[in-house]
Amino acid sequence: MKTTISQVPKYEGQAVTIGAWLSNKRSSGKIAFLQLRDGTGFMQAVVAKNDVAEDIFQLAKNMTQESSMYITGNIVEDKRSPFGYEMQVSDIKLIQEAVDYPITPKEHGTEFLMDHRHLWLRSKRQHSVMKIRNEIIRATYQFFNENGYVKIDPPILTGASAEGTTELFHTQYFDEEAYLSQSGQLYLEAAAMALGKVFSFGPTFRAEKSKTRRHLIEFWMIEPEMAFMDHDESLEVQEQYVSFVVQSVLMNCKLELDTLERDTSKLEKIKAPFPRISYDDAVEMLKEKGFDDVEWGVDFGAPHETAIAESFDKPVFITNYPAEIKAFYMKPDPERSDVVLCADLIAPEGYGEIIGGSQRIDDLELMKQRYEEHDLTGPAYKWYLELRQYGSVPHSGFGLGLERTVAWLSGVEHVRETIPFPRLLNRLYP
Ligand code: 4AD
Repeated sequence: MKTTISQVPKYEGQAVTIGAWLSNKRSSGKIAFLQLRDGTGFMQAVVAKNDVAEDIFQLAKNMTQESSMYITGNIVEDKRSPFGYEMQVSDIKLIQEAVDYPITPKEHGTEFLMDHRHLWLRSKRQHSVMKIRNEIIRATYQFFNENGYVKIDPPILTGASAEGTTELFHTQYFDEEAYLSQSGQLYLEAAAMALGKVFSFGPTFRAEKSKTRRHLIEFWMIEPEMAFMDHDESLEVQEQYVSFVVQSVLMNCKLELDTLERDTSKLEKIKAPFPRISYDDAVEMLKEKGFDDVEWGVDFGAPHETAIAESFDKPVFITNYPAEIKAFYMKPDPERSDVVLCADLIAPEGYGEIIGGSQRIDDLELMKQRYEEHDLTGPAYKWYLELRQYGSVPHSGFGLGLERTVAWLSGVEHVRETIPFPRLLNRLYP
């Protein structure tokens, strides 16, 4: 019976064959303990000298890290391992012997591991992070599908900038200049006017010269956009969505969270509603905490966000930022035109901003005024104005950064470990 490690619990007491790699090994005289991995999981296989032919025992004892094999044996319960089962081996067929695998169980520097990302992905830690990433994506589709959203795929090659022009990747589109998408939002607004509630999930490109543990040059963003929804209603969607994702990861990634030694008691508290503080109050809070560089009108950086997050054990919304430091499309607060109806959601434990969102300007004249102020001209922007001309409605949306969310839930410090092949300021390979 050929199976995988993840399916092993179904075969207790039976003999099975698994295609696997050797991730680690130890042996003591008459017994060899093989740590197997097969992509679906990790499991120990025990090879006892007395139970197998001599050549099989020698093969097991001398097997090198990352050698590939088909391995056969009986599945028994093993209460000591977190996985709960192990294999008592009866046969091994070597597929390929791996010679001098560069990543050994000893410590390696980050640059070395990044250079070997194509192999580093095989480690138990990276396997766990990728599984958690996958669960967040799965839960995202479930949440938005169950709540009546239609998945929409905005273009990657665009003629317009959604978030300002400084961070654009330029490319040639035949005779025209084009950019790699920095957000699908403008297109999602058009789609929301056609389909009501929509969401996208796609790659996002920002030519940011930031070298921090939260910035990638290429990252993945989940962007919902909702017609007939105001800012407060959008915040409710955000807290429901984030709570759902966190609880899904807790339920479906127990082994992975355990491998990463994630403190899950902190994640268990993540249930809607989330606290909200205004930008004004955040400025006061930071001044009280001794930040001399903060005054009304400045944008917050990572240390500010971390300091604010410290006061809460759930993600916190910082709402109503000054209009002048936010994007052109955000709707001014009807009671105070110097701030806009927007919010950033800051994750707890210092993982930073995971969501940026806002209610959008729906008034044609005000949008025309913004176009003038921001010098938005030409066919790349003309169509977006028409959304305010033909049946304009209140609408809101937001973008959640997948990698920062993976970092938070996995408890990994740097976003470079949260995407299979990170694109960083000085890294385009592997
Ligand atoms: O706040 P941002 O720039 O929002 C937008 O792009 C809106 N157009 C979204 C919308 O309303 N539809 O980015 C949203 C999120 C951030 O909160 C952060 O989680 C993530 O995207 N993000 C990054 N993640 C990794 N590396 C970067 N360089 C990131 N820049 C933003």
